[in-house]
Amino acid sequence: MKAIAVIDHTLQDIDLPLPQAGARDLLVKVAAISVNPIDHKMRGAATEDGSPRVLGWDVAGVVTAVGPSVTLFKAGDEVYYAGSLVRPGANSEYHVVDERIVGRKPSTLDFAQAAALPLTSITAWEAIYERLGVKHGGGDQGKTILIVGGAGGVGSIAIQLASKLARLTVIATASRPESAAWCRKLGAEHVIDHSGDMPAQLKALGIAEVDFILCLNEFDHHFPAMAEALAPQGKLCSIVKNERPLALELLFPKSATLVFELMFTRSMFETADMIEQHKLLTILAGLIDEGRITTTLGEVIGSISAANIAKAHAALEARRTIGKLVLSGF
Ligand SMILES: NC(=O)c1ccc[n+]([C@@H]2O[C@H](COP(=O)([O-])OP(=O)(O)OC[C@H]3O[C@@H](n4cnc5c(N)ncnc54)[C@H](OP(=O)(O)O)[C@@H]3O)[C@@H](O)[C@H]2O)c1
Repeated sequence: MKAIAVIDHTLQDIDLPLPQAGARDLLVKVAAISVNPIDHKMRGAATEDGSPRVLGWDVAGVVTAVGPSVTLFKAGDEVYYAGSLVRPGANSEYHVVDERIVGRKPSTLDFAQAAALPLTSITAWEAIYERLGVKHGGGDQGKTILIVGGAGGVGSIAIQLASKLARLTVIATASRPESAAWCRKLGAEHVIDHSGDMPAQLKALGIAEVDFILCLNEFDHHFPAMAEALAPQGKLCSIVKNERPLALELLFPKSATLVFELMFTRSMFETADMIEQHKLLTILAGLIDEGRITTTLGEVIGSISAANIAKAHAALEARRTIGKLVLSGF
């Protein structure tokens, strides 16, 4: 099968044998993929045995075969999923994935529109509902959430989940007119600039403090401002790790909660509840088909090839993309 792999730190078009599905695996014919910052972060990491490394953790495709213990899917089903960081990625014609982290593809989206969603949606869903503990169905209606980095892949779906589903008042951050307009279109009530003084901008909006903060970028840099803006007993979730020790004592007087979200935790450790990702992707597909949530697709770069993936990585590394970049077909 065709595959795009990293060899000697360079993306190359190669041929690989067809992968075999294990007991709970699906063999999926890949129709479209999306790129994420994890792809270029992993590009430089060598494999232990020097073998080619296939990247790519966002897929929409069709199930062609299933392992003997599979119960959730059958051949012919259209699916979307993010996969596991401790298994080969999906920049290849065929890919195997554990059924417990796969959802049925939204039927109203084409493969490219669907491939934009899984990794970032799992991240945003787990961050908002599980880590921050925001209530489903509007039980926290009217509370405020600051989403730092609103126009990126994760921000684009997080704004929708927080505003349209949880009915929170969303303040997103963006540093450019076009990224600010994107955040507003997706449901942000206010947009402030993450390159400026965020607490001062919130006060200027009449918002003295926020109940929840979701940090999607530059955690170390934004931490003091976020600690200042957070309400007493508020909750802060970061999806990016800190690079240096943080002044955690800033959170102490407020009895504030700090929590991390890594969407690969469940698949990496095969936690007992990893099927939650199947469930949430399936619920999300329903919400999309009902028209309540929209795809976050920003641009289709072209077909799935080493040259186009390199182009997509370069765009992500510039950290100015709006929504998601997708590649479709081989
Ligand atoms: N923990 C997890 O499970 C998980 C999952 C997915 C992603 N991540 C990580 O989360 C980060 C964001 O991922 P993503 O896919 O959303 O990225 P992305 O799509 O590449 O984000 C691009 C956006 O970042 C914004 N941005 C640039 N500099 C910023 C800054 N200093 N402060 C705030 N925002 C800034 C830009 O907005 P403007 O143009 O308006 O400045 C741009 O729209 C990456 O580091 C990624 O590796 C973690």
